Amino acid sequence: MPETRLLPADPAGIEDAAAILRAGGRVALPTETVYGLGADARDDRAVAGIFAAKDRPEFNPLIVHVPDADAAAAHVEMPKIAQRLADAFWPGPLTLVLPLRADAGIAPLVTAGLPTLAVRVPAHPVAQTLLHAFGGPVAAPSANPSGRISPTTPEHVLAGLAGRIEAVIDAGPCDVGVESTILGFDADGTARLLRPGGLAAEDIAGVLGYAPLPGTDGSINAPGQLASHYAPSGRVRLNATDARPGEVHLGFGPVAGDLTLSESGDLAEAAATLFRRFHELDAMGAEQIAVAPIPEEGLGLAINDRLRRAAAPR
Ligand code: TXA
Ligand code: MG
Repeated sequence: MPETRLLPADPAGIEDAAAILRAGGRVALPTETVYGLGADARDDRAVAGIFAAKDRPEFNPLIVHVPDADAAAAHVEMPKIAQRLADAFWPGPLTLVLPLRADAGIAPLVTAGLPTLAVRVPAHPVAQTLLHAFGGPVAAPSANPSGRISPTTPEHVLAGLAGRIEAVIDAGPCDVGVESTILGFDADGTARLLRPGGLAAEDIAGVLGYAPLPGTDGSINAPGQLASHYAPSGRVRLNATDARPGEVHLGFGPVAGDLTLSESGDLAEAAATLFRRFHELDAMGAEQIAVAPIPEEGLGLAINDRLRRAAAPR
């Protein structure tokens, strides 16, 4: 990994940042809430790189950043109420969790296989310029190592991630300093506050005509309550070097399998492929799935966390 570049927040620096994103790299970018660790949301490998840099022991779904509501509508269904909230609060510190469009083109690792996508239109002018220059959706969790607090200055980002990411855009401290408010919707359209944040619930209530309900009704996955995450519908057996009769074998490295997470035994490739393979196993109608051993190191921790959840009794 090369030294992390500190890019100036001027047109040349932002163009360099866009070029790094186009090449599948990671750039920490300022938003009005906190610094985000951005990568191309359409590129599984680039998104796997975010998890690798953060040393996250599990795959949480990530927020996708777009320049405006029209760009958001290319990736998610925008019911009328979402459009009204977007009109009122975008750009700004509001994230909406909405149904993922079939043609969204978002890497499955971004949503951790969920049928919904969290979208946000940041207000920071540097984030806006970068999103326009890059011309695509940017997945970005807060730019801190797992378990550490969110960074609100480029110095915070470097303290946690120097040597682990390609670049940081230096745009000074963030205005809001806390993460965006996350809103989800029940099937009947009722709004739920999934995470309090930089936009007050009272302001949201002003547009909705009621206060968003707390937490989740179980049909949506609130942050930190992701136990019921996507898993293939077949029964899953782990650490399987061989398949038993009737099992579809998901391989890794030397364990070839019927299909593989990574033929070369590359954990970043396995992370990038994991949720795609889950979907393929469902499409094949696999009822019993055997999964090759995955080393418990680096991205293997997050992969094994997800596999153990998939294998847990349901
Ligand atoms: O202000 C912010 O939102 C910052 C800046 C960088 O934009 N980003 C941020 O991302 O806080 P992160 O990854 O630290 O938090 C994202 C939260 C997670 O708790 C995750 O569980 C939730 O959003 N989330 C993402 N997609 C979701 C989905 N489809 N359903 C429910 N929750 C989701
Ligand atoms: Mg975070």
